[in-house]
Amino acid sequence: MATVSAIPGDESHGTLRTTGPRLPVTRSYHQPVPLESLKTRIDTLLDRAPAPTVRLRRAVAIAVVATQALIAVTGSVVRVTGSGLGCTTWPQCQPGSLVPVDHPEFAALHQWIEFGNRLLTGVVGIVAFAAFVLAYATRPRRKHYLRLAFLMPAGVVVQAILGGVTVRLDLLWWTVAVHFMVSTIMVWLAVLLVHAIDEGDEPPVRRGPAGLSGLLLASIVVLVGLLVAGTMVTGAGPHAGDPKTPRLDIPVETLAHVHAAFMFVYLGLLLAAGVLLRTGNSTPQLWRRYVVLIAVVIAQGSLGFIQFWTGVPELLVSLHVLGATGVIIATATLWCATRTRAIAPNRIPTPAGT
Ligand code: HEM
Repeated sequence: MATVSAIPGDESHGTLRTTGPRLPVTRSYHQPVPLESLKTRIDTLLDRAPAPTVRLRRAVAIAVVATQALIAVTGSVVRVTGSGLGCTTWPQCQPGSLVPVDHPEFAALHQWIEFGNRLLTGVVGIVAFAAFVLAYATRPRRKHYLRLAFLMPAGVVVQAILGGVTVRLDLLWWTVAVHFMVSTIMVWLAVLLVHAIDEGDEPPVRRGPAGLSGLLLASIVVLVGLLVAGTMVTGAGPHAGDPKTPRLDIPVETLAHVHAAFMFVYLGLLLAAGVLLRTGNSTPQLWRRYVVLIAVVIAQGSLGFIQFWTGVPELLVSLHVLGATGVIIATATLWCATRTRAIAPNRIPTPAGT
């Protein structure tokens, strides 16, 4: 059998030498490993490892939803506590230091709140990457599932960069709004990922009464308007993240009315969907998800009015952001129930992968 020799005075600098029968190839460790060969090695390793169970993949995908929603809420805590520029630069917290430092101008609490939010990005990233690795290790491989899983860590990278841009542009209102809107997209996609675990690559098949999908699609468009209008209310309101940040120069009341009007249109479309579900060809699952969505929207709308009438107290503002993620999750969950993608017969996982 071939053995590796440690020859005194050997100047091969890491070149693999053998004694005994010669190996067909002598390879230097300094040679770059081509990407394709790296992929093959990872695939071989994953093929040898035990297949990730559906339960594990689902738990991690749910953790992705939870961490994506959580970071949107902690982002709002940064804003309402005025800690947005607690760390004055990015990726360092203060020039020359990755972590908070004693500073005559910047309170330690503000630095730690902003820094804590940055640390949470690391947790969100690890969970997102784990979801991707699990999807990659799943056999047979499914494109739809894998694509969604890939978007999770990719989205975290995009968000980390956007967060940095937001700090560098001194929390300009629209940078905060874009940063938040990307978060809402990530929450939506994470819910799709949870559902993709049980789905294949076949084209989606509609479920539920005729017209439901169209109505829900219209309501989702209105929901996007509702969320964008919400970020504009925030942009004009007092919770900028730093007292010196210039605000969007439109009266808050006007924007809040537009924001609330979007909610009423959204609610109206949902009520029409409810009528369809009651009178048409529905399923208990669709109805359950619909009821949860209506309850979340009504609770969130009530909270919106209360925070508006009480002068946007900090706690309610963060709860309102939590409620917004709840509305997105409930809407995406109902949307997923109206369309399923079958797993092609040749791609049904073996019992070991279940
Ligand atoms: C389904 C219903 C609703 C959803 C999904 C929703 C969502 C949002 C979102 C995403 C924001 C921006 C958060 C941020 O940029 O950090 C926001 C802000 C706000 N919303 Fe709503 N909202 C809803 C209903 C309402 C209603 C009915 C009102 C009543 C006027 C309202 C009042 C406000 C106010 C005052 C703000 C600004 C808070 C601040 O100063 O940061 N919302 N909303």
